[in-house]
Amino acid sequence: MEYVIVDDQVMDRSTAKVDIEDRGYQFGDGVYEVIRVYNGKMFTGKEHLKRLVESAEKIRMKLPYSPEELEGKMEELIAKNELQTGTVYMQFTRGTSPRNHVFPGNGVAPTFVAYTRNVARPEESMEKGVRAILDEDIRWLRCDIKSLNLLGNLLSKQKAAEAGCFEAILHRGETVTEGSHSNISIIKDGVIITHPADNHILNGITRQKVLEICGKEQIAFEERAYTVEELNAADEVFSSGTTVEVMPVVEIEGKPVGNGEPGTVTRNLQKLFKAEIESQCGKI
Ligand code: PDD
Repeated sequence: MEYVIVDDQVMDRSTAKVDIEDRGYQFGDGVYEVIRVYNGKMFTGKEHLKRLVESAEKIRMKLPYSPEELEGKMEELIAKNELQTGTVYMQFTRGTSPRNHVFPGNGVAPTFVAYTRNVARPEESMEKGVRAILDEDIRWLRCDIKSLNLLGNLLSKQKAAEAGCFEAILHRGETVTEGSHSNISIIKDGVIITHPADNHILNGITRQKVLEICGKEQIAFEERAYTVEELNAADEVFSSGTTVEVMPVVEIEGKPVGNGEPGTVTRNLQKLFKAEIESQCGKI
């Protein structure tokens, strides 16, 4: 049996239902998080739950549970599903009410849904690296909110998938922002360069962890906007995200990045990131 959570009930997935007038379904009016699970333990769970609360505040939604309560619920779901390596997904919408652009008001409670999924570490891709395309970033100007509105991301990711690529690297004019479902960093002369955490990107928890590791290990980094030209001239490029960890990008628009192999800085970050996971979740 696969267990899921709907509002405050843990239930069998086959019996789980959400109303057709749920605002998530009709407007994408809600926020979500994806947390990685290794050895049955959440990795950077607290950071993800903090961001969930912040995303909700930014769309003027009050969550019915505290981060601590949510953590407990996720732990329960992971245990019930006997999840070892995978993800927990959770989302809150602004609840169910007759379709109207105006918020439904305090009488309508948010809808909460959560489930788990088995997801292996993408070891082969992490070893060999992945390919990417470039695409114009057509999304709205609040990409810092982890909202359910992902249409811009989906259109770009679909284009990448149709080109046989893992990721679409997005740019607003000349400025590279992030990927369709991950953050993108470049390395030039040993320095890691990544877009600052403003409204143009989602401030990835993986991105934050990588920068924290760089601080600790005295690896040089800069948080600044960089151009498509700089991307094309980079020695190394990597994508970072919850499910993909630190993923080398070895080809962009059919052209090799550096020598077309994962570079030494990225390799080192992968190793340090794995050590960070193991310090929180045990051997992987
Ligand atoms: N995606 N940027 C975007 C647009 C993302 O969708 C994601 C993650 C990231 C990386 O964030 P983090 O390191 O916190 O996972 C950056 C998730 C995994 C998803 O939508 O499935």
